[in-house]
Amino acid sequence: MSKPKLMIIVGSIREGRSGLSIAKWAEEVALADGRFDVDFADLKEIALPLMDEPNHPSMQQYTKQHTKDWAARVEATDAFLFVFPEYNHSYSPAIKNALDYLVREWDRKAVGFINWGGNSGGTRAQAALRPVVAMLGMVMTHGQVEINFPWGQIEEGTFVPNDQQTAVLQSQLDELLKIDSAISSLRG
Ligand SMILES: Cc1cc2nc3c(=O)[nH]c(=O)nc-3n(C[C@H](O)[C@H](O)[C@H](O)COP(=O)(O)O)c2cc1C
Repeated sequence: MSKPKLMIIVGSIREGRSGLSIAKWAEEVALADGRFDVDFADLKEIALPLMDEPNHPSMQQYTKQHTKDWAARVEATDAFLFVFPEYNHSYSPAIKNALDYLVREWDRKAVGFINWGGNSGGTRAQAALRPVVAMLGMVMTHGQVEINFPWGQIEEGTFVPNDQQTAVLQSQLDELLKIDSAISSLRG
């Protein structure tokens, strides 16, 4: 039987971002876990323009190659880990833009979160994202990995997690798997 596909979405795209190191850690843990096929989706590399389709995405009448490629990639995914920072008490614009391109491809898919910031650990970013993914029909894990001041844990480009962060990430993967097995038959 094939494994469910997990997409790890790197939600910060600025020069000098912490997000890439944190997402690489998530990828490493997910690959070691072995229960998913892992797709690493770096929104900096994917470089979607600001949403530029003429039709409402629910019609799936995509006119741009970048949209068709993104739609196919998301459609092929069962579960998502959004990896994103807090910017001005909300989540990063790259995440919103990537979400806004599509509707149906997100529907009835599992989603978990890794967020970070200063003192808050990105709590406000994560709380702001939840109603958006709920509107798109995604089913959320009820926890999330929260990281305070992650830049203190990045050594030469590598995020060095503590035991608690790794344990919470592992429980996110457990939950994503359970949610996916409960809802995958509802798609289509
Ligand atoms: C435009 C901007 C706004 C920010 N606003 C917040 C904020 O509201 N709360 C917070 O905890 N950190 C805030 N920060 C700090 C970021 O959480 C921190 O810079 C983090 O490393 C950003 O992730 P990145 O390096 O992957 O871009 C902000 C950073 C930027 C660049």
